Amino acid sequence: MKDAKPYIQEHKQRFLNELIDLLKIPSISADSAYKGDVIKTAEVVKNSLKKAGCDHVEICETPGYPIVYGEKIIDTSLPTVLVYGHYDVQPPDPLDLWHNPPFDPVIKKTELHPEGAIFARGSCDDKGQMYMHVKALEYMTQTNQLPCNVKFMIEGEEEVGSESLGWFIERNREKLANDVILISDTGMIANDVPSITTGLRGLSYVEVEVTGPNRDLHSGLYGGAVANPINVLTKMIASLHDENNHITIPGFYDDVDELSSEERAKMAEAPFNKEAYKKALAIEDVYGEAGYTTNERNSIRPTLDVNGIWGGYIGEGAKTVIASQAFAKISMRLVPDQDWKKITQLFKEHFESIAPKGVTVKVKPHHGGQAYVTPITSTGYKAAEKAYESTFGKTPIPQRSGGSIPIVALFEKELKSKTILMGFGLDSDAIHSPNEHFGVWNYLKGIETIPQFYHHFTKMNK
Ligand code: BES
Ligand code: MN
Ligand code: MN
Repeated sequence: MKDAKPYIQEHKQRFLNELIDLLKIPSISADSAYKGDVIKTAEVVKNSLKKAGCDHVEICETPGYPIVYGEKIIDTSLPTVLVYGHYDVQPPDPLDLWHNPPFDPVIKKTELHPEGAIFARGSCDDKGQMYMHVKALEYMTQTNQLPCNVKFMIEGEEEVGSESLGWFIERNREKLANDVILISDTGMIANDVPSITTGLRGLSYVEVEVTGPNRDLHSGLYGGAVANPINVLTKMIASLHDENNHITIPGFYDDVDELSSEERAKMAEAPFNKEAYKKALAIEDVYGEAGYTTNERNSIRPTLDVNGIWGGYIGEGAKTVIASQAFAKISMRLVPDQDWKKITQLFKEHFESIAPKGVTVKVKPHHGGQAYVTPITSTGYKAAEKAYESTFGKTPIPQRSGGSIPIVALFEKELKSKTILMGFGLDSDAIHSPNEHFGVWNYLKGIETIPQFYHHFTKMNK
């Protein structure tokens, strides 16, 4: 495979313009007000795949948002790479914290991105990273270098739990048959420290509701005499961690795979600057489970976090009231070999059991998924390693991430192939946050590295 740099330099401006056009469409899957935009984005992605060289492209309808499918089969005796990504994005709020409107992309320089970064919702997660694969395909087909077969499966519900994707895979196992799944929807350590994501955490997401009296009450007339749902809810939530920040749900850690001291020592070799980490987040100290490092806390350990909490009066001024109800959304990040359905059940039983008399508690499970860990001995991993070596001039570090792409564990179960996570974003790119961005250098480096993966993977699997 030739060096893609000259082609990328020649077409750089167009590659950026095309991505910027894609980023202008607010494909927010969580908000039904944007339904038309989500569907329009699928259409744009489909057309881009056709233009990049797919022989066959289609919009596959599902009970939810459509899945964009594309393929270029050059020889059925050659290996097949299945590319997965998502064209939906997170809601952009809080809007007032964006320096530029989230769907009006601008390129600005930052400390970590001296060549500029594209600021827009979805720039890194995942439109920008997904589109690197479309442009890598364009490069390979335009220069007659595509070494194997390729299939694309780009979904529009990743940010809301990928429900329709499970449905789609079950019905299309043949169509999706592949030798390896390639995803760019994660990150790397730094632009001069390439890494390959070897693990994702699982997830259990629940919503809880605490109900006290049948109506809001005057907090003077009734205060102290009836359970206040907000007081109770916060107390219950606080009790979910002990003084060592261990989670107190009985059985929660039963299936956790504890890493050996060798594995932990290996992990600790990855470069990490705690001072820079604290400075970047403007925190005085890190926080978490006793006995584990920051990198362990956010990758190999399970966690429980409140994502939102509400109830009572939050308008201007004061209102003396005991609210009838209080609510919270809680996520648990899981690790091998925790089962997300079992954890959801354990949470439900425990949370209901700690409710004091005087309130009723409801636990409503949302979505979830299993954790994923991929070996560094597979040909997919080796091919990715070689690809980074050729474009970064360095061997990438294997690293488990704290994020979740719940569908990845299902891919392995249903399609029987390994997933390789070649992410080119940085943790500081602010995905899911205001001012999300993606380095121009990272975008182009991804386009340069992906064809090398195809080359090495084909060579190893022919
Ligand atoms: N791309 C992210 C996951 C991610 C980001 C993994 C960075 C590793 C590093 C994905 O779009 C995402 O946000 N996943 C959700 C879960 C989903 C079910 C909403 C998450 O991790 O919160
Ligand atoms: Mn993503
Ligand atoms: Mn996301």
